[in-house]
Amino acid sequence: MFVGADHTTEGFCNMNSASFTVAIDGPAAAGKGTISKAVAAYFGFSHLDTGLLYRAVGAKVLSGMDALKAAQTLEVADLNSPNLRSPDVAQAASRVAVDVDVRAALVAFQRQFAVRDGGAVLDGRDIATVICVDADVKLFVTASPTKRAKRRMDELNANGIELAFSDVLADVEARDKRDRERATAPLKCADDAVMLDTTHLTADEAIARAIKYIMAARS
Ligand code: C5P
Repeated sequence: MFVGADHTTEGFCNMNSASFTVAIDGPAAAGKGTISKAVAAYFGFSHLDTGLLYRAVGAKVLSGMDALKAAQTLEVADLNSPNLRSPDVAQAASRVAVDVDVRAALVAFQRQFAVRDGGAVLDGRDIATVICVDADVKLFVTASPTKRAKRRMDELNANGIELAFSDVLADVEARDKRDRERATAPLKCADDAVMLDTTHLTADEAIARAIKYIMAARS
């Protein structure tokens, strides 16, 4: 799947006139996934959770594979592995995500996805700043660390994983720190992105705001 690694850190993805690209970035558990899925369903766009790419690479590293080899040989089926949402895999994902060659190996696939006919929503950390610098809509979704840890804990509990709140908060903060401080494609709000703070919003309210921004960009 991931043929033709692209070693540039800047680029364009919105070269196809039939495409419409929504880039959604933000820290862990800010609500990106919920918003992205809902927006994709509302507008009929395709959705790519780019965190899954890094999680799939991280999972392979945990089972002994070299990170770059894992990124270069990743297949769509790998994104459906059952344990990708575990905290261990999340940490492994953020460790492999600091590797410039791993990131480069995943660029081409993301950019191709972004320009597919009918529109696409990509969520991650560097979509607006690196992968799709010319995206039609750029949102930076955030929330307080406590709120994000609470949401992540609820999500883990729903999947049968019981963890102390302090551990979940520490996990979220460690990942954010690593994602923000890495040299390549760090997590940051693009200058031309709209900031959407979901701390005091319900999921429906956050989704409604995102839809409003996209509607405005499409009209
Ligand atoms: O979004 P999610 O929490 O699934 O991402 C897991 C990890 O993958 C993040 O902590 C981050 O290190 C990495 N990631 C990234 N760039 C992206 C998406 C995810 O570095 N576009």
